[in-house]
Amino acid sequence: MSVVNFYKKDQQVPLEMHKVRVVQKLFLPNVEERVAKIREAGNNTFLLQNKDVFMDMLTDSGVNAMSDNQVAASMQADDSYAGSETYNRLVSALKTVFKTEYFLPAHQGRACENILAESFVKPGDVVPMNFHFTTTKAHITRMGGRVEELVTKAGLDPDYIHPFKGNFDIERLKALIAEVGAEHIPFVRIEAGTNLIGGQPLSMENMLEVAQVCRENGIMSVLDASLLQDNLYFIKTREEAAKDMSIKEITHKIADAMDLIYFSSRKLGFSRGGGIVSNNNDLIMKMKELIPLFEGFLTYGGMEVRAMEAMAVGLLETMDEEIINQGPQFIEYLVKELDEYGVPMVKPAGGLGAHINASAFLPDMPHDQYPAGALAAALYIAGGIRGMERGSISEQRNEDGTENYAELELLRLACPRRVFTLSQIKYCADRVKWLYDNRHLIGGLKWKDEPQVLRFFSGRLEAIGDWQDKLAAKFREDFGDSL
Ligand SMILES: Cc1ncc(COP(=O)(O)O)c(C=O)c1O
Repeated sequence: MSVVNFYKKDQQVPLEMHKVRVVQKLFLPNVEERVAKIREAGNNTFLLQNKDVFMDMLTDSGVNAMSDNQVAASMQADDSYAGSETYNRLVSALKTVFKTEYFLPAHQGRACENILAESFVKPGDVVPMNFHFTTTKAHITRMGGRVEELVTKAGLDPDYIHPFKGNFDIERLKALIAEVGAEHIPFVRIEAGTNLIGGQPLSMENMLEVAQVCRENGIMSVLDASLLQDNLYFIKTREEAAKDMSIKEITHKIADAMDLIYFSSRKLGFSRGGGIVSNNNDLIMKMKELIPLFEGFLTYGGMEVRAMEAMAVGLLETMDEEIINQGPQFIEYLVKELDEYGVPMVKPAGGLGAHINASAFLPDMPHDQYPAGALAAALYIAGGIRGMERGSISEQRNEDGTENYAELELLRLACPRRVFTLSQIKYCADRVKWLYDNRHLIGGLKWKDEPQVLRFFSGRLEAIGDWQDKLAAKFREDFGDSL
């Protein structure tokens, strides 16, 4: 890895190894407008209009900046329904990255999950995974299966410092297989890195061990590689066994051990779309017919050819450590700034974004007032910053209608790759610090309109009491006429 040290060591900051050549103008509504906008959006940051958002930290999905080579490649897309050269170029890039022979294209990550669940999950089946992702779980339960989460205890403790908090508890995996029987486990899903537990990575060693346990028991291993690029960086920088390996060698070693790999290219490869790759033709044949049925013809799978060209180049660029280090380094900077101020953060910094532990930020707020959702609404008021609730609102109710409270109440501040400048990250830290000092003003939320499925996307909530006006009034008092 090339290193750039600063002369004044105490002023070292992450240094971007790229320059910006296309920009988008941003707007920051004033604080009173922000209160009105978040109310209009039902206190759900998904329902805010982007024109009213200054820093869009909702997600890293489909919003990463593309490289000049990606944009250039997208211009040579071969726009044909069948037999497109674009498809061949993408297959070739996937072969280089994963060393896999077969590829099924799909329009995004959850489409791959649908295909996998439709093809392999039967009622009564159990799908072990280190941790669930919202859409993954929804597809598995839709087919009558259930998810078992086997992440190590460290993964659920925001303060526990461990380099690989996304790791599987291997003993629990073995015990689960013995308990339910391998015949009821269609596959083990390895989410590397994790999403809902703060972007925490898995070690290469742990992934290889899980794959080994799968092989010994005749169970298929499935890697969800959507967040693999950050995870690769953490393996390279935190795992002794990988320190002399290139990113590509690490990727090959992991991919070799897996039966199937699927990914969302809205994250992996700085593009849009997704797909499933494998060297096992029998497994591919079991899923193949569903692609034209649900996605599109087998050479595009619902994707736009220009996005496929950008994906091919983006995947190859992901093998460059200097390209994939920007996200984790910015996140680490933000987490450190906030942690040093006393803001409760998930530590160590992971991939995808910085995660605030909302339960510790708002310790007196009852679970049924949704602390992470309330904090997301409050941060929009404080700074026009759109984060994402990753707590109980992101869960689904139990069948009897009771709440299924999340194990972690997090506010995620995603750092889409190569999108923000360091001064914007500093602005974000400043507004979170102000909010932390004024946390006694933040009140809870209650449901106004609650959808049954994936309620966090479109549900609407309202503030309990007038805390949002009081927060805005305090902002005025402290910041004067500043936006
Ligand atoms: C780990 C993981 N898997 C799957 C998905 C689903 O991907 P998509 O949003 O492209 O459907 C996501 C999206 O955030 C994810 O983070």
